[in-house]
Amino acid sequence: MNELLDTIKSRKSVRTFDETPLSDQHMSDIKEYLSNSENTSNPFGIPVEFVLLDAKEHGLSSPVLSGESLYVAGKVGKKPYADVAFGYSFEKLVLHAWTLGIGTVWIGGTMKREVFETAAGVRDGEMMPCVSPLGYPSKKRSIKESMMRKGIRADSRISGDRLFFDGEWGKAYTPADDMADVFEMVRWAPSAVNKQPWRIIVKDGIYHFYEKKDKGYDNEVTGDLQKIDVGIAICHFLLGVKELGRNAKVTVSDPGIEIPEDSEYIASLTIE
Ligand SMILES: Cc1cc2nc3c(=O)[nH]c(=O)nc-3n(C[C@H](O)[C@H](O)[C@H](O)COP(=O)(O)O)c2cc1C
Repeated sequence: MNELLDTIKSRKSVRTFDETPLSDQHMSDIKEYLSNSENTSNPFGIPVEFVLLDAKEHGLSSPVLSGESLYVAGKVGKKPYADVAFGYSFEKLVLHAWTLGIGTVWIGGTMKREVFETAAGVRDGEMMPCVSPLGYPSKKRSIKESMMRKGIRADSRISGDRLFFDGEWGKAYTPADDMADVFEMVRWAPSAVNKQPWRIIVKDGIYHFYEKKDKGYDNEVTGDLQKIDVGIAICHFLLGVKELGRNAKVTVSDPGIEIPEDSEYIASLTIE
């Protein structure tokens, strides 16, 4: 299997950690990774800032986590597309960490937000949509975590024919052979409550990304968590295309294809 697809499919949210702090080697790798703007940038040109936070020093915890000692928080200026950009940049870190054997889980809801925001130094005009622990997965998941995964069916995903459309909303699209892995990478992306709100309409060779909205994910404080999800999906798509030795240009220009009322156009990707 393609190495990136393997990374994406094998990654699981980790909520039970083994209490070991990151090794010096891994800590410096993560710091070096975050200090390189090529790693943290996104196609929307919106800077995302990452802050590493010692859990003990700042009194940080989450009711769904155990055994963690380090967090990473992400901050972004409040503006259109900040959430999509955030999803893209943060997910790249999540995948990089996983290749090192470091577990993460996107946390946008299950935390005391004020405590994290103070620790991360969130300024006026900024938001801190999500954080993640960084640590080594425990051999066994906590019962709480196992039950949670079951409840949101975290090990399964919606089938491609209900996500990817041919020219019009709802008409199933079958990707050409070389692109099949790229679509699998999108399908296996993580999302808030595993709702998988991304949809793609392929028309005239262009991949148009949409958000299919559920109620209750959009607010002033976190931005729209489901736009973050679409940013994650775009990240997987672009990395997948890169893996094929090609590049995809991201533009924002609504093609005007008819879509359901609870949906919104996000961006179009053209493979060069
Ligand atoms: C934007 C976003 C926010 C999330 N917020 C939380 C959260 O607050 N608490 C939590 O336990 N998991 C959270 N998750 C993790 C998802 O529940 C998880 O990614 C999804 O169930 C799929 O499982 P997997 O990551 O193991 O593939 C979030 C994921 C995303 C993408």
